[in-house]
Amino acid sequence: MRRKFIAGNWKMHLLPPEARALARAVKELAAGLPQVDVAVAPTFAGLAAVAEELKGSRVGLAAQNCHWEIQGAFTGEVSAEMLRALGATHVIVGHSERRQLFGETDETVNKKTHAAHRAGLKPIVCVGETLAEREAGRTLEVVERQVRGALREVAPERMPQLTLAYEPVWAIGTGKVASPAQAQEVHARLRELLGELYGRGLASEVRLQYGGSVKPDNVKDLMAQPDIDGALVGGASLKADSFAALLRM
Ligand code: PGA
Repeated sequence: MRRKFIAGNWKMHLLPPEARALARAVKELAAGLPQVDVAVAPTFAGLAAVAEELKGSRVGLAAQNCHWEIQGAFTGEVSAEMLRALGATHVIVGHSERRQLFGETDETVNKKTHAAHRAGLKPIVCVGETLAEREAGRTLEVVERQVRGALREVAPERMPQLTLAYEPVWAIGTGKVASPAQAQEVHARLRELLGELYGRGLASEVRLQYGGSVKPDNVKDLMAQPDIDGALVGGASLKADSFAALLRM
């Protein structure tokens, strides 16, 4: 049985003290809900404060991005090892905002996935189609290309630590959530693809999150789908009360 995994992506929101306060609330909530795995992803600037708050708790700490090199002349970048040293346990890679606004490609997503593993961080690898791609009937082809690219040469023994997040670009921050059936269709294909790449046993272990306008009022129906094992949540993770409602699903 795969445990549900809810991660809050705080994007470029919350000053460090605000992030810390929200992390405290999430920590207290999570303590009472041992059946669900939880992580929060503050900005780089908030990581240290949130790490301190989460120390010894069961809430994972995710960075929102990393560089693939260990160190070097890469002004403005942060390595997976540095994130790990700050207390991070996870890192989001290939979020569609990074792909669309900051030039991430399947190749850089792959390098970052390897870097995460090298540093002992659990990657949350994001894939998802744009509205134009969906309307052109290319959804499955696009996510398949992204998954194959992201997982190139990722060893089978790494896969249980990895989470794959399906986030249709048209659903992110728009209030337009994929229907449970639409999301399940893609998740089922992702599971099948993982089976082709790694065998059915491993494919059945990997958690597949859905992301894109997940809210307290739609989380339950999404989570009831057989191949949806959690959610990567932006907007609704920024307030303690809605985060609580997501975790209680
Ligand atoms: P949203 O963001 O929940 O605000 O749509 C999801 C995400 O980008 O991970």
